[in-house]
Amino acid sequence: MLDVKLFEMKAFLPMPYEEALSPRLKLAHEKLQKGSGAGGEFTGWVHLPREYDKEEFARIEAAASRIQSHSKALVVIGIGGSYLGARGVIDCLCSPNYNLKKKQTPNVYFVGNGLSSDALQEVLDLVAAEDFSVNVISKSGTTTEPAVAFRFFRAALERKYGKEGARARIYATTDKSRGALKSLADAEGWETFVVPDDVGGRYSVLTAVGLLPIAVAGVDIRALMDGAAQMMALCAEASYECPAWRYAAIRYELYRAGRSVELLACYDPAFRFMSEWWKQLYGESEGKEGKGLFPASVDFTADLHSMGQYIQEGKRLMFETVVRLGPSDCRLCVPMDTSDGDGLNFLAGESLDFIRDRAMEGTLLAHTEGGVPNIIVEAGGKTAEALGQLIYFFEYACGLSGYLLDVNPFNQPGVEAYKKNMFALLGKPGYEDQKAVLEAKLHK
Ligand code: PA5
Repeated sequence: MLDVKLFEMKAFLPMPYEEALSPRLKLAHEKLQKGSGAGGEFTGWVHLPREYDKEEFARIEAAASRIQSHSKALVVIGIGGSYLGARGVIDCLCSPNYNLKKKQTPNVYFVGNGLSSDALQEVLDLVAAEDFSVNVISKSGTTTEPAVAFRFFRAALERKYGKEGARARIYATTDKSRGALKSLADAEGWETFVVPDDVGGRYSVLTAVGLLPIAVAGVDIRALMDGAAQMMALCAEASYECPAWRYAAIRYELYRAGRSVELLACYDPAFRFMSEWWKQLYGESEGKEGKGLFPASVDFTADLHSMGQYIQEGKRLMFETVVRLGPSDCRLCVPMDTSDGDGLNFLAGESLDFIRDRAMEGTLLAHTEGGVPNIIVEAGGKTAEALGQLIYFFEYACGLSGYLLDVNPFNQPGVEAYKKNMFALLGKPGYEDQKAVLEAKLHK
């Protein structure tokens, strides 16, 4: 089971804080459990691992099997919370090189998460000669980036298979009744999956948003949900026995003690997109009203050779949260070389995991000595079940953290500012007045 450990924390927080913080954590916990806090209408994810729609879950599994049987590729169109969770889980459990591997399951391409012509064209070219399907994901159904990308892929499908054939290859994951995507899907007869009203984008990986692409990649989504349900049961206990309590409490205390950056570190490159998912989760949930830790991430050991200098000796802004995934799937040992020209024979026969673990310990000691507090999250393995635990753990701790900070962890008012400007500059009907004002500012 996932666990949270603190290393030498007394050097950074000499006063015991657990008892004093306990009543506030209890309050935050109650708000999450009862949906009674700010944004309480978006706490559907809290009980989701047990209370999900079983009929829809079976449809997700059936759709995944169908896609696996007739497609060589699935194009997943979505951005932010409608993208990062699925990508994180697939990279982590199936490898960042998943699409390059020999396998029975389809390649999975992610598009509509930016506005690059080159990136879009590349995937259009990659799937052109293959049988492919599309999963377009947008809770609002109106987000510009995925909507633009979908136009291209829908047209490509219709050219290839005709309108009728394309219909059987388009899956829309969106609101149950509202939005342009829902209206389109109903009009065109595409199969739809629901982003529940009470689950916001960044908390939606364990709904159809994440589950359909993850299942297509061959991951056991029942094991993922089981893992999440195990963590849900632990989080229902209102005490420091719950690892999410310990994590939320310590990061809040470090924030109060002046730390402004949390660096999520992992020693497995496959975790990179889980870190991206985590950054959105915490950045959008906490960063408001002039408050919140800035969530950043590093890939170790690679970034020890770049960011390592700053972490060791730069401005003392940050603390680290190190995710330890556990043993690698394969065991590679350093080969013996009789000439020992590189002087590495002292490691001959040792596994890379052994060397990595010593690098991890050495870094922990060095960074702590350098004034960077370390939290360790023992994730317990690179399995669907362990990742389900980790996802729920981070979500629950994020909800608690938002309420400890006294912000609404479930809205994202700041995201609208750039959109309004973009729409005005693009000449979207209804934004005419702002267009002139913004252009004058840009060109003065
Ligand atoms: O967490 C969020 O709400 C956002 O990141 C959204 O997921 C993102 O903006 C995409 O929105 P939508 O799913 O409505 O297209």
